[in-house]
Amino acid sequence: TSPFIIAIDGPAAAGKGTLSRLIAEHYGFHHLDTGLTYRAVAKALLDAGLPLDDETVAEKMAIEMELAGLDRSVLAQHHIGEAASKIAVMPAVRRALVAAQRKFATKKPGTVLDGRDIGTVVCPDATIKLYVTASPEVRARRRYDEIVGGGGAAVFDEVFSDVKKRDERDMGRADSPLKPADDAHLLDTSEMSIDAAFRAACDLIDVAL
Ligand code: C5P
Repeated sequence: TSPFIIAIDGPAAAGKGTLSRLIAEHYGFHHLDTGLTYRAVAKALLDAGLPLDDETVAEKMAIEMELAGLDRSVLAQHHIGEAASKIAVMPAVRRALVAAQRKFATKKPGTVLDGRDIGTVVCPDATIKLYVTASPEVRARRRYDEIVGGGGAAVFDEVFSDVKKRDERDMGRADSPLKPADDAHLLDTSEMSIDAAFRAACDLIDVAL
């Protein structure tokens, strides 16, 4: 029997991360936040003082990336996310990271993978696919509240324009652009609490498992 795979895609700050963690915990599945794999490669390049636009150098870092060492707390910074979305346009980087992600996806009894291209490219045969979105305004508001709530400083208009820029880069790239898979269930969380989004997701997943 093939393992259960729950694929969760969507734009930055749509609530995918929290939702994916809750779902993985609820079903007792392994969880991989694939954004961290791109962030880890970006951070390794930044730390080594290497350029972000050399595909051969970035590919080498991607091949060496270890899933076991991924930690959101050291990869969360805004400039790392920006750098990640730059190296994520490179096909050689994506090829290396997708291979590692596919291997993770076969873990038993099942897995939750979240990212941008899980349902379309990484796991096109996933048991169930969710595409989680919210309006750019709502996503910017959540990101802003998160930064300010954590004691940081932010200007809403800047956060809003960053969200829109990241969307453009992720949706506009040639290799594996962000878009819902044809068979994905759309979940717009603009007017939903995390709790309501979690319950809506479980209702969809329960039917598929
Ligand atoms: O989701 P997160 O903000 O951590 O992802 C950082 C960047 O990594 C995204 O903006 C996107 O460009 C890239 N990414 C990707 N494919 C994935 C996950 C993330 O291209 N599956």
